[in-house]
Amino acid sequence: MSKLLTWIDDRFPLTRMWEEQWGKYVAPKNFNFWYYFGSLAAFVLVIQIVSGIFLTMNYKPDATKAFESVEYIMRDVSWGWLVRYIHSTGASAFFVVVYLHMYRGLIYGSYRKPRELIWLFGVLIYLVLMGEAFMGYLLPWGQMSYWGAQVIINLFAAIPFIGPDLAVWIRGDYVISDVTLNRFFAFHVIALPLVLLGLVVAHLLALHEVGSSNPDGVDVKHQPKDPATGVQLDGIYSHPYYSIKDIVGVVVFLFIFSIVVFFMPEVGGYFLEANNFIPADSLKTPAHIAPVWYFTPYYSILRAVPPMFDSQFPGVMAMGAAVLAFFFIPWLDRGAVKSIRYRGWLFKLPLAIFVITFLVLGWLGTKPTDFLGRLGELEVATLLARIFTILYFLYFVLMPWYTKADKTKPEPDRVTG
Ligand code: HEM
Repeated sequence: MSKLLTWIDDRFPLTRMWEEQWGKYVAPKNFNFWYYFGSLAAFVLVIQIVSGIFLTMNYKPDATKAFESVEYIMRDVSWGWLVRYIHSTGASAFFVVVYLHMYRGLIYGSYRKPRELIWLFGVLIYLVLMGEAFMGYLLPWGQMSYWGAQVIINLFAAIPFIGPDLAVWIRGDYVISDVTLNRFFAFHVIALPLVLLGLVVAHLLALHEVGSSNPDGVDVKHQPKDPATGVQLDGIYSHPYYSIKDIVGVVVFLFIFSIVVFFMPEVGGYFLEANNFIPADSLKTPAHIAPVWYFTPYYSILRAVPPMFDSQFPGVMAMGAAVLAFFFIPWLDRGAVKSIRYRGWLFKLPLAIFVITFLVLGWLGTKPTDFLGRLGELEVATLLARIFTILYFLYFVLMPWYTKADKTKPEPDRVTG
């Protein structure tokens, strides 16, 4: 084996790549619970690609056959039901894991200098992931696939001047049709996964270039080396230490994932909606159209902003801004320290309000706008969505002020635990 490895290494940097990226990569020794979600996101990406390949073997991207081909996978293909439920649960699991991973970034200031690019690649991954999920959702060609895509593509039509042409260009037709299904299939199974993989590689290369942060914000990469171990103070090799630790995360994740896949794959309509078990019908609009849970905070923002001159464009702008706002965080945070451990309440309070805001907007987005009744002309749920939309944007807009005004404690020189 070692002769073979030397032969390869003389011709290809296999050992060097392994050591630089993982084997001899020095990571801080104090990673906690929140640091599981990066490797878990990578794990879910693999699950999605592998289960997706097997689904593609029996799925038919044809408007007259797509719905039945999914039923065929569920009923007749050996283990087809399992592969499909793994893929549909994996989609939601991906967002759960990525949202927790992003939250870790927010609490520990992982996006601060010199890790801005890691964060930017992350936000790009998030955007592409949204596109990937949106296009994948059209493929089963159920009622919600059809009408959800209808609603979202019509949003593009609200853009002044170019909107209507843009919507036709995206659909490839005047309505959502077989053409749309075919191109979404192409994007979902090959174009976007390639982009996603490329971005994940870039994300990790950038991380390993500058070194990982940690819950104390201590820069372990630039600590002096401990003469006894030859490794930076407070640092440990990723392998075998984090290889083993990450496996623990994977096992716990698989335990929870399996409960969902085997016992509750629809999760009460949150992961798979009842309307999507009805074939798409362009003549029958469902009474209540809502996106899958991971899009609902933005959907709420879209609905909260009142139309102007009969155009939904202001809502579309607000929704876009709500997602794009994440790009700017590394430059909006002016705090003296990175981690929540050494920040004061002026950092913690806005973050807590933001998390609640995101959850409330998400919840409101799953409901019809009149589900809480009306206050005169205005629906109560719309009023709530407006208040929380304002709070959502205040988190970003006021960030330079409250992070600077915040009373921080000094960061330690060494990690604390
Ligand atoms: C497919 C999706 C993603 C994968 C596979 C992924 C993978 C990883 C991995 C393996 C790490 C190192 C381990 C860790 O710190 O947990 C990491 C770190 C990081 N990720 Fe991601 N990530 C993804 C999406 C995102 C997103 C959406 C963001 C933010 C918008 C993000 C921001 C970060 C940051 C800032 C770090 C550095 C953490 C530190 O050094 O403290 N990632 N990512």
